[in-house]
Amino acid sequence: MGKKEKKQKHQRNQHRGVLNYCQDEEDDNSVFKLSQPYSSSSSPPRVSLSDDAKELEEEEDFDDDNNGEKEAVNDETASDDMPSKFLLYQHSVQSPKGDISYLQKFFLMYVGGRMPLHFQEDFCGTALLSTEWLRSDPRRTAVGLDLDLEALQWCIENNIPKVGADGSSRISLFHGNVLQPLQSKLVISIPQELISNITLADNTQLQESGILEAKSQAGSADQDYKCIKRNVSLPARDIVCAFNYSSCCLHKRADLVLYFRHAHSVLSAKGGIFVMDLYGGASSEHKLRLQRRFPNFTYVWEQADFDIIERKTRISLHFHLKKQQRKLRHAFSYSWRLWTLPEIRDCLEEAGFQSVHFWLRQMPDTTEFPKTEGFGMGRDLRYEEATSFPQQDAWNAYIVGVA
Ligand SMILES: C[S@@+](CC[C@H](N)C(=O)[O-])C[C@H]1O[C@@H](n2cnc3c(N)ncnc32)[C@H](O)[C@@H]1O
Repeated sequence: MGKKEKKQKHQRNQHRGVLNYCQDEEDDNSVFKLSQPYSSSSSPPRVSLSDDAKELEEEEDFDDDNNGEKEAVNDETASDDMPSKFLLYQHSVQSPKGDISYLQKFFLMYVGGRMPLHFQEDFCGTALLSTEWLRSDPRRTAVGLDLDLEALQWCIENNIPKVGADGSSRISLFHGNVLQPLQSKLVISIPQELISNITLADNTQLQESGILEAKSQAGSADQDYKCIKRNVSLPARDIVCAFNYSSCCLHKRADLVLYFRHAHSVLSAKGGIFVMDLYGGASSEHKLRLQRRFPNFTYVWEQADFDIIERKTRISLHFHLKKQQRKLRHAFSYSWRLWTLPEIRDCLEEAGFQSVHFWLRQMPDTTEFPKTEGFGMGRDLRYEEATSFPQQDAWNAYIVGVA
């Protein structure tokens, strides 16, 4: 069967939606499966951290020339034939099992005396970590908070159903700003509908859970959503996290301290931890392009010039879909201030954390492995607690603030 016919068959067999894409691809041992086991190592978005190196095929250039391929700027231009950018992101970037095992370890080391049950994922995006948290113990609850409503909805439609029947009753997803968490709105799992007018409770728990008022916003930009007032009661959190370098989205020191204060305020009085990650090293402070090839797509991390005065850069994530011959350029783009480890420690202490711990690992050298299976080497590298660490080409850190 020719390429064109194959593509037509593929399209005929598909309905809209990423799950169908995943199912179709299972026959091809596709990587587009959220249920596929992830590596035990954390995999923030830098391609050098991804696992599954064995799945790499021959190298492919992902330069800007199109080579006759169509280009999709973002998800909105995706056709039935295109997987969601969120699915591609989750597969390329995240390793929730690895993150959770470190979170548990940190909690038992620095707090101990009980198992952590209540989790908050700030800057949660599609809240993959939260849903994995719920899967690991039926007593567990999760709270997610993000500015990106589309990502939260995608979580409701694609990640929460994988948790099991009680999944949606154990997770609360909030749409809002981490700097103003009490202004955030609860998003609930009525398909395509947004429940609004509820604030994210801190550890002072709100009284009542239930829908109090529903109002349609038909005619507004949110016409697909219903906003419903309700109160919700949230247990104090054992762990709050901000992963995949999300704290770098905050550019001002005052905002970083304010955010850390909010995180501190929702932690349990019985003890809790805040955990974030950070990357750095010589390679993080200049222009850089890294790529990693999966059987069905190539993932590219593009780092713009680094401003040494503001310590800012722009990170863009691109995907090149092999079968569809499409490029999803700038699927995700972030303006980041690259904080230093001592700056983070100072801000955490200022926000009220009792102690701060650094866990580091050296990453594979980006000059040696810009786009080969060498990226998979990162998965064997373990984080070690450190009070001093010599500069490297690339490193990753977990930073643990103990309340
Ligand atoms: C690098 S992504 C991380 C997503 C996810 N946590 C992960 O581990 O892959 C950063 C996320 O932070 C969100 N974000 C950025 N600034 C925010 C803010 N001030 N408040 C809430 N979310 C924010 C973005 O919408 C995006 O989903």
